[in-house]
Amino acid sequence: MKKIDISTKINNIKLSSCIMNASGALCRTEKELSNLLDSSSGALVTKSCTTNLRDGNKKPRYFEWNIGSINSMGLPNLGIDFYIDFLKKKKINKPIFLSISGFSLKENYFLIKKANLISNISALEINLSCPNIVNKREIFGYNFFYVSKFLKNVFKFNKKPLGIKLPPYFNEIHIKNMASIINRYPIGFITCVNSIPNGLYVNSYTESVVISPNNGFGGIGGKIIKPFALSNVSKFFSFLRKDISIIGCGGISSGQDVFDYILCGASAVQVGTQFIKEGISIFDRLKKELKEFLKKKNYFSIKHFLGNLKKIC
Ligand code: SIN
Repeated sequence: MKKIDISTKINNIKLSSCIMNASGALCRTEKELSNLLDSSSGALVTKSCTTNLRDGNKKPRYFEWNIGSINSMGLPNLGIDFYIDFLKKKKINKPIFLSISGFSLKENYFLIKKANLISNISALEINLSCPNIVNKREIFGYNFFYVSKFLKNVFKFNKKPLGIKLPPYFNEIHIKNMASIINRYPIGFITCVNSIPNGLYVNSYTESVVISPNNGFGGIGGKIIKPFALSNVSKFFSFLRKDISIIGCGGISSGQDVFDYILCGASAVQVGTQFIKEGISIFDRLKKELKEFLKKKNYFSIKHFLGNLKKIC
């Protein structure tokens, strides 16, 4: 029987499977990271780190319902040195994407310089889209001037494959303009999308919000955001240089969801809400379901349909 190949490449980094965790989902502590190393995910993405350890926002700060999740975590992380030390002492068996989320250009450059010294880190995913830093920080991905300035400077010293994690955009012109900025630089990949900012989930019975920070407003993830994420992947796929890979993220809970993302132009996908819900076995399940779906459709490699979404004329 012909083997079904779900391996992929992100900026020349080979992944044995196109399915990995999203930054933020069970990838903060030593135990969570070790579980990911031992799992069948194609890569490991760390929780977005800052220079110093952060406890994050007040709890409750995460809530999920049948078709979505809302969070305002506030970047709880153990600080970059923890992630570097963890990676130095572990036997690394898959590509490692270190997620970085500095509070300023200066902090981002500092963290990127530090990560450049660590051979076990395969790539850097710079999180320009955290929506949850109450009163302190804008969503950098919506500030096109910030992104231009960041990219203009970072490639003067960065030598690692580097990508940026973007917020969702809702106007085509914003995607076109962002793509034209990105196309000017030797960027390896983009990850789209982060959670949809400023969502509000209401508990009708208690007549209350469900998370504490920011009066209950937070980033929305899960199944409910998949159509928005797919549209960002598809539009970026048509506007970006072809050597820039896209990692799709938002609402993946089945092998067929993974297929849809690849059809729209993603070379790999990240799983967040459903990973938190289901745990580490999700990677085996999604791989199995994706392979079964491809077999039914007579595809033997993701290359055979990547970006081939048909239009209705
Ligand atoms: C958070 O820690 O608040 C979530 C991170 C993110 O959405 O980028």
